[in-house]
Amino acid sequence: MPGLMHWHPVLLGKQLGRRPVAVRIDNTDLVIFRTATGQAAALADVCPHRRMRLSMGDVIGQKLRCLYHGWTFDAAGRGESPGTPKLHACATAYDVVERYGAIWVKSLEAAPRFPHLDVHGFYNICNLQHSVRAPLELVVDNFCEIEHTPTTHAVFGYPLDRMHEVKVEFQATDTTVRVINQGPCKRLPAPLRWLLGVGKDYYFMDDWTTHFSPVYSVYDHWWQCPRTGRPSRVRWRLFIFFVPIDDHACNLFTFAYTKSCYPGPAGGARLFKWLMRRRLDHEIRLDIRVLEGLADHNPSIEGMKLSRFDKSLGLNRERIERIYRGRNALRLAG
Ligand code: FES
Ligand SMILES: [Fe+2]
Repeated sequence: MPGLMHWHPVLLGKQLGRRPVAVRIDNTDLVIFRTATGQAAALADVCPHRRMRLSMGDVIGQKLRCLYHGWTFDAAGRGESPGTPKLHACATAYDVVERYGAIWVKSLEAAPRFPHLDVHGFYNICNLQHSVRAPLELVVDNFCEIEHTPTTHAVFGYPLDRMHEVKVEFQATDTTVRVINQGPCKRLPAPLRWLLGVGKDYYFMDDWTTHFSPVYSVYDHWWQCPRTGRPSRVRWRLFIFFVPIDDHACNLFTFAYTKSCYPGPAGGARLFKWLMRRRLDHEIRLDIRVLEGLADHNPSIEGMKLSRFDKSLGLNRERIERIYRGRNALRLAG
């Protein structure tokens, strides 16, 4: 399947200023630039004249000017030579949309659906971008099981001595994989427990669904009393997009939203969003530390000794191969 057949987030909107930015997505080099009127545009990062990196050029009005000989290209890739005015050339252009605080790109030939993020009633805490030196499959593995949470994470997840009590359920469709976890809650610092409205003996609930065009998971996190079902005052919904850079590295784009039953605008979330942002960033960095510490970055699950929490690894791989990469996946089905 040719590159960029799905809508990928490639940069946060705030990461694109007046300078063009080079990005690599799934082994494809692009230059992303913002025209003088604020429109984001994406071209292949190679000048059709003599193959200079367009990302080293400058934005002049609505066009990107190549550093080497000054040819200029508009958002549709139409190029002009200043030295030979009748000579025209085209750079490969991509479809671009700016939404949810990010810049999204796909190939002009592809017609996938744009991922709909259901954020109704939620308040945006932050959008984050992280890079991980690990292949897509291994990154998704980490974000789709909770057995690692006791030892990898700070406050997120379940305690090691009660991990055997955690229940996990898998629900797969042709195009999605849902995983529902519930179990005794990890010990939280008292101020955080109070702020979130987490009662004594509450269970931590972690319910996510992974989609594959592009590859992303939608996580619902909250706490609740196992006897009465009473939930915590605050919950959140995270959308994490797993965007391969190449076969050895991946970008994570996290869109974090919260809902709270505190009074006031956005349930008071504006007041503590800095704290949630800091916690979330820290927890994601802890995942990255583990992923970059793996002894073997072979994306295959062959030879791994999988546990009752790892069923999603095979389910995800089959869908990554079939839906995301557009290949016959039987070879990797788990
Ligand atoms: S290489 Fe870009 S203008 Fe010559
Ligand atoms: Fe994690």
